[in-house]
Amino acid sequence: MCGIVGYIGNKKATPILINGLLRLEYRGYDSAGISTIENDGLSIMKDKGRVKNLNEIPGIDDLEGTIGIAHTRWATHGKPSKENSHPHQDNSKSFSVVHNGIIENYNELRKFLTDNDYTFYSQTDTEVIPNLIHYYYSKDNNDDDKRILRAVKCAVNDLKGSFAIEVISKYDKDHMIVVRKDSPLVIGANEDEHYISSDIPAILSFTRDFYLLNDYEFVVLSRDSAEFYDKELNKINKDKKTIEWNASAAEKDGYEDYMLKEIHEQPTAIRETIGSRLSENTKIEFDELNFTKEYLSSLNKIFIVACGTAMHAGLAGKNAIEKICKIPTEVDIASEFRYRDPIIDNKTLCIFISQSGETADTIAALKLCKANGAKTLAVTNVIGSSITREADYSIYTHAGPEIAVASTKAYTSQVVLLNILALYFAEILGTCDKVNDYKKDILELPKKIEETLDSCKNINAFAKEIYQEHDIFYLGRGIDETVAKEGSLKLKEISYIHSESYAAGELKHGPIALIENGITVISIMTDSKLVEKTVSNIQEVITRGAKTLVVTNQNVDQKMFDKTIVIPETNPFVSPILSVIPLQLLSYYIAKEKGLDVDKPRNLAKSVTVE
Ligand code: M6R
Repeated sequence: MCGIVGYIGNKKATPILINGLLRLEYRGYDSAGISTIENDGLSIMKDKGRVKNLNEIPGIDDLEGTIGIAHTRWATHGKPSKENSHPHQDNSKSFSVVHNGIIENYNELRKFLTDNDYTFYSQTDTEVIPNLIHYYYSKDNNDDDKRILRAVKCAVNDLKGSFAIEVISKYDKDHMIVVRKDSPLVIGANEDEHYISSDIPAILSFTRDFYLLNDYEFVVLSRDSAEFYDKELNKINKDKKTIEWNASAAEKDGYEDYMLKEIHEQPTAIRETIGSRLSENTKIEFDELNFTKEYLSSLNKIFIVACGTAMHAGLAGKNAIEKICKIPTEVDIASEFRYRDPIIDNKTLCIFISQSGETADTIAALKLCKANGAKTLAVTNVIGSSITREADYSIYTHAGPEIAVASTKAYTSQVVLLNILALYFAEILGTCDKVNDYKKDILELPKKIEETLDSCKNINAFAKEIYQEHDIFYLGRGIDETVAKEGSLKLKEISYIHSESYAAGELKHGPIALIENGITVISIMTDSKLVEKTVSNIQEVITRGAKTLVVTNQNVDQKMFDKTIVIPETNPFVSPILSVIPLQLLSYYIAKEKGLDVDKPRNLAKSVTVE
């Protein structure tokens, strides 16, 4: 849950590293640091606080080194402080290391190193790494050009857990070594320079050509070459991959915040995700998949497993798969799924949804399913992300980089892709006679999203009315309940207002006791079969003094409610893609009204690479 950047080239490294860190701050922002190779050895500058604080440390502008590593932290071991900030060095200050991930056996390694006269100055798990490298380096009597690489390899062999690591040393002023396991790391390549980063967008303005690393691959980088080694330090070949994302997609483009920009990018994100996979009157194409009727008919269950917003998208996916493919589908939170002994075999298809493709719990759940004989399918937004290397099949949303911690366009893209997947299954199985109607509903979405964004023009006025509240409730039935969950999560994450979502019919079985005069209740109603029932539930909270906001495309008596947002009519099958938008914007404006940092909410990080 940290961000790491590196540079090796002919330019001054510091401004490049700071630029990269600023773009990675969404991954963690409680401390930042940098280490460069200078003429007189390794420099190190770090402190708690955001990257802009780092930029203000006296002397940072004087660093001349053209090789450097940098880190922005989300604390796991040890509070945010200068001592706990990365980079960390060994006792002799010969090696600087930045690390993203968690070293699970750090206590054991610390004891080993302490017994060998090493001293620790931080509470972090990371500090064992430079000291282990130093330990193995000093034990190696062979002073050839692979000595540091061997020391890094020996140190890595001792580590349990997850890591993406960059190492520089005063003993070799022309190289950097990187390695990863279960934590993201990409290498951008130009003719005479390399950029290293936890994600692609952070360095997309410098290059479009990337090396993607597998677990336990070591890379020795010089300015103009990258040498790759496997776990045993045998040399391996690796090809570059050109990334099609546009660099400006990772900029704010005149919007005040990434979140607002990403909300407004949803028509494009959905258009791109639909792409050429779906058109009216032709069969759906998924080049990445080769499911047969025989295989799909043999399935007794589909599991959809994910975390947070991605899990909410899974709930919409379940609705579509069960309705039109008639395959029983269960949705699970990845961190629970793993430990509840789920019944999985070769008649189970397991779908994993993850925007980042790096979420540790989701990847661990995927490994479990694979080990039990199920086929695994990843739905992700990031090409080459860890999950795609583990899954049997991967399909991509084409939402473009999502930078704001609160997920918006990734959610709607995931829902649309799951809907297309459900139609693809239904076409193979022949379980639905309305496939063409559903396709039409999907193809109309980009335009309807634009209309929905227009219908939200005054939502900031409602945000001004309620931004000081302490509790807000979300209600819905059926597919709308899944959106209520997502609306509630969005509000919590960025406004810090306590909120809960309930199935509207469940209210009178307990939660209605919480409804008192003036409390805000937000309801979603997009299913004509359920609208009357939900209206009755809203009536029950109005009677008890609630203030109500309704998001609907149904013919309801708007006078009943304090505020109504009317969204375009659509099939409930795809309605989450529209009905969530007013809720995203409401959360955004409430957080802005409270003066909060919407893109980087407290305690959260964009990609959760720890379990
Ligand atoms: O990258 P992933 O989709 O796997 O992330 C899963 C969750 O951590 C993520 O959706 C989280 O809930 C977001 N902050 C929601 O806005």
